Amino acid sequence: MKIRVFEDAEDLGRAVANRIANQVKKNPGAVLGLATGGTPLATYAELRRMHAAGVIDFSLVITFNLDEFAGIDASHPGSFRRYMELKLFDSVNLDPRRIHFLNGAATDLDAECVRYEEAIASTGGIDLQLLGIGANGHIGFNEPDDTLAARTHRVRLHDQTRRDNAALFGGNPSQVPREALSMGMGTILKSRAVVLMATGARKARCIELAVNGPITTRLPASFLQLHRDVELYLDRGAASQLTRRR
Ligand code: PGA
Repeated sequence: MKIRVFEDAEDLGRAVANRIANQVKKNPGAVLGLATGGTPLATYAELRRMHAAGVIDFSLVITFNLDEFAGIDASHPGSFRRYMELKLFDSVNLDPRRIHFLNGAATDLDAECVRYEEAIASTGGIDLQLLGIGANGHIGFNEPDDTLAARTHRVRLHDQTRRDNAALFGGNPSQVPREALSMGMGTILKSRAVVLMATGARKARCIELAVNGPITTRLPASFLQLHRDVELYLDRGAASQLTRRR
């Protein structure tokens, strides 16, 4: 894993936006895997700025988001689709036909997961997957458990995860859907390159374990050790417990 440490979340966000811009410059039709949450906000802000300045052209870029809540449709203010529209999609020249999302309102959620895997494969696969990480080592909605589903699948959300996402649902955890859809760790590991971002000392322990600990379903991020092109973009807080950098 390549590890880069930045002074603060803004520096880190700029660096990740540059990484994405270089990918798109090299391959204007790049397939990007995108993530939601607080951590990517600085990156998306910088991408909006770069697009407004004419530095990045998204017209041929293809996107796939990692995960989505089940039981709500794309227009719900708590949906990850809505987050992406507000933070990036509405401000750049992505072609709506090239934006891919899991449909949490699908009547057959299992079939929706299969459709998504096939849609990713039909583009030739994800070139660059952006990831955040939970303080418990979760990736997307792949939570620590005895087993993990490799491919895109339905997930029963942990109470902690529902609390963590309450802000999207009027601050009320009971309003957060109980189920979600998520790419699996196998889907993620098939991406040609992975960029994982983490900020804050709250993430430091799981970053140390993800980099230097055993590979375990109890820490889904540890599976990234199996991938040969993973870059970790950390701020000082998130890097503060690293014992070795490899
Ligand atoms: P955060 O969430 O970016 O809001 O910390 C990351 C995650 O839980 O995957």
